[in-house]
Amino acid sequence: MSQPLLSVETINAGYGLVSVLHDVSISVMPGEIVCLIGSNGAGKTTLLRTISGVLTPASGSVRLDGADLTGAGTKAIVRAGIVHVPEGRRLFAGLSVRENLLMGAYLRGAGTPEVRRDLDRVLATFPRLAERASQDASTLSGGEQQMCAIGRGLMAAPRLLMIDELSLGLAPKVVDELVETLAAINKSGTAILVVEQDVATALALAQRGFVLDTGRIVASDSTRALAESPEIQKAYLGAELELAG
Ligand SMILES: Nc1ncnc2c1ncn2[C@@H]1O[C@H](COP(=O)(O)OP(=O)(O)O)[C@@H](O)[C@H]1O
Ligand SMILES: [Mg+2]
Repeated sequence: MSQPLLSVETINAGYGLVSVLHDVSISVMPGEIVCLIGSNGAGKTTLLRTISGVLTPASGSVRLDGADLTGAGTKAIVRAGIVHVPEGRRLFAGLSVRENLLMGAYLRGAGTPEVRRDLDRVLATFPRLAERASQDASTLSGGEQQMCAIGRGLMAAPRLLMIDELSLGLAPKVVDELVETLAAINKSGTAILVVEQDVATALALAQRGFVLDTGRIVASDSTRALAESPEIQKAYLGAELELAG
C-alpha cells in the first residue's frame, strides 16, 4: 500500500483544560474521499481544527505526505496543502463572490497567472458562481454559499480539501449537485475529508469512513460496511435512515 496523504496519529486535543479528542488516529490515502461521521458534540469539528492548525494538540501528530505539520500553524498548513472549509461557510459579507474566491489564494500572491487560471477553473466548476461573480456573497442561497466556500478552498490549490458539514441545511437537489462536483474535483487529483451526517450523502460521496464517538474513533471501514452495520445504524445513522425511508 502507498503512503497515506494525511496521517493523523493518536491525537489528544481540546480547549484549555477540557480534553475532547482521545487518541484519535485517521488517515486519507492519495486520491481518496473519506467521511467522518458522529453525533453532535462528538469532536468532528475539533478534529478538523486540529488538522488545520487552529488548535495545537496536547499530543499526537498530523502528517501530510510524511511531513510533520503538528503545531506548524494555519498558514504553513495551508501552504503545505491542507484546506479547511468551515462549518457554516464563513464567507466575507460585503465582498463579491469573486473577491471571496480570491481570498482563498491570498497566500499565493494575487494576480499571478496560476491564480487567474485557478479562478477560471473554479468558475467553470461552479457555473452558478460564474453567473453571480460580481454579486455580494451574502446574497447567495445556502447551496451557493457552500459552493463559494468550497471554491474559495480550491483557490488555495489544496492537496487535501476538508469540508465540515457538507450537506447541513441544504436542499437534497443542491446536495446531489455538490456530490457530483466533489467527485469531479476528486478525479482531478484532490483528496477530500468530509464531515457528513447524512448516510445517503456519505455513501454517495466516500469510499471509506471513520466514526467518532465522544472524542474516540469507534469504527472505521468502507462506507458501505458502516451503513450496513446494525450498531452503527442504531447509534449514528438511525434518524437519517428513517428519513430516507
Ligand atoms: N471553543 C470551544 N471551547 C470549549 N469547548 C468546545 C469549544 N468548541 C467545542 N467544544 C466542545 O468540544 C466538544 C466537541 O465539539 P465539536 O468538535 O464541535 O463536535 P462536533 O463537530 O462533532 O459536533 C463538545 O463537547 C463541545 O461542547
Ligand atoms: Mg461540528
